[in-house]
Amino acid sequence: MEIDVFPTIGSATDEGLNGKIALVVDTLRATTTIAAALEAGCLEIIPVITPEEAIEMRERLGDDRVLLGGERGAVKIPGFDLGNSPLEYTPEMVQGKRIIMTTTNGTRAIRKASSARVVLLAALINAPAVAEVVAGMGGGDVTILCAGTRDRFSLEDFLTAGLLVSELEKKGQYILRDGALVAREFYRSAGTDILKVLQQSLHGAQLVELGFGPDLEYSSRVGILKVVPVYNGGLIKRYSGGE
Ligand code: MLT
Repeated sequence: MEIDVFPTIGSATDEGLNGKIALVVDTLRATTTIAAALEAGCLEIIPVITPEEAIEMRERLGDDRVLLGGERGAVKIPGFDLGNSPLEYTPEMVQGKRIIMTTTNGTRAIRKASSARVVLLAALINAPAVAEVVAGMGGGDVTILCAGTRDRFSLEDFLTAGLLVSELEKKGQYILRDGALVAREFYRSAGTDILKVLQQSLHGAQLVELGFGPDLEYSSRVGILKVVPVYNGGLIKRYSGGE
């Protein structure tokens, strides 16, 4: 069994994804927000690429439980119900709802991973739970796909990749490809300065400037959630073991 890390969507190869267990990471903020939404009782999330696709799908579904969520330029899209802040996805807002979501990088990364055998969504807040689910699957190669930022490397996603590698290694014997080895060492070097790394990252600094500093604090809380989102057949749901 091996673990590899692709630091951007564009770097992921078909060979690296086909038949593997894919862990998609967009720490700031899509995979953090999706985990928070499912934890708050959202029924399912439908990731789409464009805002137009989201609006058209809501009309087609004609279901009053459907909300639109996502961002462009990190802020809520005009006409949408929710942006991309995990703190917006409260039980009052999302319990019993279906959310059609589009984000700049995160939802693209999720769709890119669809040729994998299993697609799980990971962030710092649920990485230990994701590793637990992978361990329960009885083995297989793991590919960590970082969403990055517009096809460029993202510090915060690489940090989460390193945490995932280190959690997976506690539960199984893996050969680490070079990307996984470097990610793990980067995570170890961060020590307890997780929030600081998020603040130092380019996207993190932009979010703080836009007033989303509390999102970074929330996103930095390693292992606070047990929920593991799984993407299957175009839908993201809570992993229950029956997939
Ligand atoms: C993305 O998908 O590009 C991010 O989640 C952007 C954001 O932080 O809102």
